[in-house]
Amino acid sequence: MGSRINFFKQYISNPGSIGAVAPSGKILASLMLDGISLDQASTVVELGPGTGVITSEIQKRISSKVRFMAIEKNPSFVNDLNQRLDQVEIIEGDATHLTRLLESRQLDQVDVVISGLPWAAFDGSIQDSILSEVASALAPEGRFVTFAYGGIHLFPKARAFRQRLGKYFGKIERTQLAWRNLPPAFAYHCNK
Ligand SMILES: C[S@@+](CC[C@H](N)C(=O)[O-])C[C@H]1O[C@@H](n2cnc3c(N)ncnc32)[C@H](O)[C@@H]1O
Repeated sequence: MGSRINFFKQYISNPGSIGAVAPSGKILASLMLDGISLDQASTVVELGPGTGVITSEIQKRISSKVRFMAIEKNPSFVNDLNQRLDQVEIIEGDATHLTRLLESRQLDQVDVVISGLPWAAFDGSIQDSILSEVASALAPEGRFVTFAYGGIHLFPKARAFRQRLGKYFGKIERTQLAWRNLPPAFAYHCNK
């Protein structure tokens, strides 16, 4: 419950960066992660872990040998995640610097990128910059997964984001809607 309260507090102080009033639920996390073969991956990156709901689900599905990093911009979330989660490298940073953050850790390619970023709150230039970083960081057979809020996905910035996905990924599949998520949401599963 403490995490949910902190999430809401962070939303009140910075709605444009947090982008939702509550963390994702486990049903949405399953829609995002089912079918991703996380157990086969050797490097996994999460963008915008927030209070770590999806992070914890990823941890259940990866092997003990995987390198798992989560990049979060909000210092309060970083602090909280560092105290609660181990076996994940929490990096305080901006997803727009993804390749630089990886290079400084001697990594040039990752197998899976899982995003919890609020795309519909971002301007086109930020969407483009992060998607370009993700596409450069992903291995040729890599997977990119993200979510969108139902209804909001019809707003101009969200529609622009869906179009941009097509610029960077050859195959994009949309899951069903998780109605019980707050707000309801679905996932996009993307391959280069
Ligand atoms: C909609 S919340 C999702 C949080 C969590 N993934 C979940 O599903 O509950 C968006 C998260 O992205 C983070 N964020 C926003 N912009 C970011 C950026 N440029 N780089 C890294 N994290 C960012 C926010 O601080 C917040 O934790």
